[in-house]
Amino acid sequence: MASHMKLKKLQEYLDDVDVFENPKVKLEQYPTTPHIAACMLHTIHTRYNDIEDKTILDLGCGCGILCIGAVMLGAKKVIGIDIDDDALEVCRHNIEEFEMENIEVEQHDIQSLDTKVMERLKGNIDSVIMNPPFGTKHNQGIDMTFVRKGLDIASVSVYTLHKTSTREYIEKKAADWGVEMEVLAELKFNIDNTLKFHKKQSVDIEVDFIRFSHKRTK
Ligand SMILES: C[S@@+](CC[C@H](N)C(=O)[O-])C[C@H]1O[C@@H](n2cnc3c(N)ncnc32)[C@H](O)[C@@H]1O
Repeated sequence: MASHMKLKKLQEYLDDVDVFENPKVKLEQYPTTPHIAACMLHTIHTRYNDIEDKTILDLGCGCGILCIGAVMLGAKKVIGIDIDDDALEVCRHNIEEFEMENIEVEQHDIQSLDTKVMERLKGNIDSVIMNPPFGTKHNQGIDMTFVRKGLDIASVSVYTLHKTSTREYIEKKAADWGVEMEVLAELKFNIDNTLKFHKKQSVDIEVDFIRFSHKRTK
């Protein structure tokens, strides 16, 4: 596939990615919409050249929409990690449907990634992409655990989504960690009424699309 693919075309392809069959509330299993996934990946590709010919890791890959989109934009290899076997089954099915051979999936809990896995990934991953759990289901702070792991592994950048309401806290964390942080876009994340804790038909959540990167040493 052409790495200069247009945003609209990318979104059209991503419309065909299957989503969670029975999303698990506790694991915050709401998929990134094709529109948001396409916008994220297109920005990472055109503005930062962090996809084409790169090795990418997707933390909490779910059904794999970010993995698949990254390959469409020319990623050399993508590794997806998720804790949930049911999600990974849908992900594997999607990879098969799209006939992509350079995506590998692994089942791990990001909060307790073992050192062997960390050692294997470190130095082999250019950038990390993710839509992590936001930490609103008795798992406060899990989004920043995902970012920390991503930064420990990525040689270049971590691209991620977080609730805009937590921006100040995240800025403080980035300063403490000595990493660069840039809000690339403010998005409205429309979560359909697939998760039972939402009483309204659908809920718009304001979300920041953020790039974290290691400070260059002079
Ligand atoms: C908001 S969903 C995003 C899914 C997918 N990345 C996407 O963009 O559609 C968050 C994902 O994180 C996974 N997850 C939640 N807790 C996890 C953990 N501790 N370790 C690994 N994955 C986890 C969930 O199973 C879910 O697939």
